[in-house]
Amino acid sequence: MAYLLGIDIGTSGTKTVLFDEAGNTVASALAEYPLYQPYIGWAEQDPEDWWNATVITVKEVLYKSAVNPKEVKGIGLSGQMHGAVLLDKDNNVLRKAIIWCDQRSAAECEQITSIIGRERLVEITANPALTGFTASKVMWVKNNEPSVFEKIKKILLPKDYIRFKLTGEYATEVSDASGMQFMDIPKRQWSSEVLGKLGISIDMLGKMHESQDVTGAVTRNVAEVTGLAEGTPVVGGAGDQAAGAVGNGIVKPGVISSTIGTSGVVFAYSQNVSIDPLGRVHTFCHALPNTWHIMGVTQGAGLSLKWFRDNFCIEEKRTAELMKIDPYILMDQEAEKVDAGCNGLIYLPYMMGERTPHLDPDAKGVFFGLSAKHEKQDMIRSVMEGVVYSLRDCLEIIKEMGVDVTEVRASGGGGKSKLWRQMQADVFGTEITTINSSEGPALGVALLAGVGAGVYDSVPQACEAVIKVKTRQSADMALNAKYSRFYAIYRQLYKSLKQDYADLAAILKG
Ligand code: XUL
Repeated sequence: MAYLLGIDIGTSGTKTVLFDEAGNTVASALAEYPLYQPYIGWAEQDPEDWWNATVITVKEVLYKSAVNPKEVKGIGLSGQMHGAVLLDKDNNVLRKAIIWCDQRSAAECEQITSIIGRERLVEITANPALTGFTASKVMWVKNNEPSVFEKIKKILLPKDYIRFKLTGEYATEVSDASGMQFMDIPKRQWSSEVLGKLGISIDMLGKMHESQDVTGAVTRNVAEVTGLAEGTPVVGGAGDQAAGAVGNGIVKPGVISSTIGTSGVVFAYSQNVSIDPLGRVHTFCHALPNTWHIMGVTQGAGLSLKWFRDNFCIEEKRTAELMKIDPYILMDQEAEKVDAGCNGLIYLPYMMGERTPHLDPDAKGVFFGLSAKHEKQDMIRSVMEGVVYSLRDCLEIIKEMGVDVTEVRASGGGGKSKLWRQMQADVFGTEITTINSSEGPALGVALLAGVGAGVYDSVPQACEAVIKVKTRQSADMALNAKYSRFYAIYRQLYKSLKQDYADLAAILKG
């Protein structure tokens, strides 16, 4: 029997899953780590925490499964996108990684746009300059920490740092590298024009591969530390969104996915490079050769509900601990008692600024419409509804771009909630499905590893063999009409607050 290992370097933790070739989970392990937020809008993590979590979870999975490590035919890496891991000439990490949701680099986005020109930047990188992307984070270091910048020998993405630790190779692959904004997206290679204009040498970046290609193999040292077999191939893998899409079978037109993790993403497959002229959704390379994808991103999706849980649901957390269940189950039960529309309470999930559709790092979270009648349960539900409204913003743009939507597959931690899935069906007015595996990114990169190792012929064939639709929830069109009235106000609120957000940011920045 062939086994495949998927390692996903997430924002809240690293999840490692061992699959058999039919895509069944054989064993899985999770190790969490902190997120550092030294100032409002900043977000950093320690790459050593990712590596320690990788070692711990790989060992645990091998131990739990009792599989002979030689039967692990390939390893796929997935991870949070966009983070900048900066290494010096001795491969030491120079500073904590500035990660995807960090918003400090607005000035650098203006700088990048003025150096390259907006139109040319979009033509090459398929996207406008964004605080979320790696390029502006690296430019921030260049402008604000020149002594660090001078020492940079390599700039790696989070999962590519783990690849380096596993194999000794500096390498990346097209789907994750797309989010660095150093790439020529139509040509699927580094852009010497962008790099040259920003003063970044191509040697500072990893070697570019397609996602299913073998990029290196587990070294003897790592084999000793983790229990993996020396020489196990490590394929390119994918950024967490493309990886999750493969793990949900988003490898053909028509079926799109909606993922609620820390961030929220609506993801569509595309056979050509299709760009939103306003830059509200991202166009990146997909993890299948010669294909691309479009995705809309909500910065604070699961993050919003987790924030509410940790600050206001202490009781639910305690009860859940006693009952040995997830506190979100109790929060769902409370939210279920409230009517759709939360008696007029509307939540804007802009806790970490917003990408789609506003591209505004200064946007902030809001509860609008609070009255003395509202209770905590209304607030829980309105957080969930607000996240779904923001996913609808993503979906509407993707539809506007001519993408055919026949089915939406829900995934991520939020996709486990039947209530949250039903809200998506009702707010989108589309059937929502789930598939037989909830491992998303880890499954996606394990399938890519299977293609690289020759277990499957191609990514679509791997998905065909492994992925089956498990649940279907249809839209209640009467509720769709009701939600649409609140959604119209939701959309109006950002417009009303845009200037206030900027004024507030000016005060906070001093
Ligand atoms: C995608 C994005 C997030 C992160 C963290 O562009 O920034 O999805 O990858 O999950």
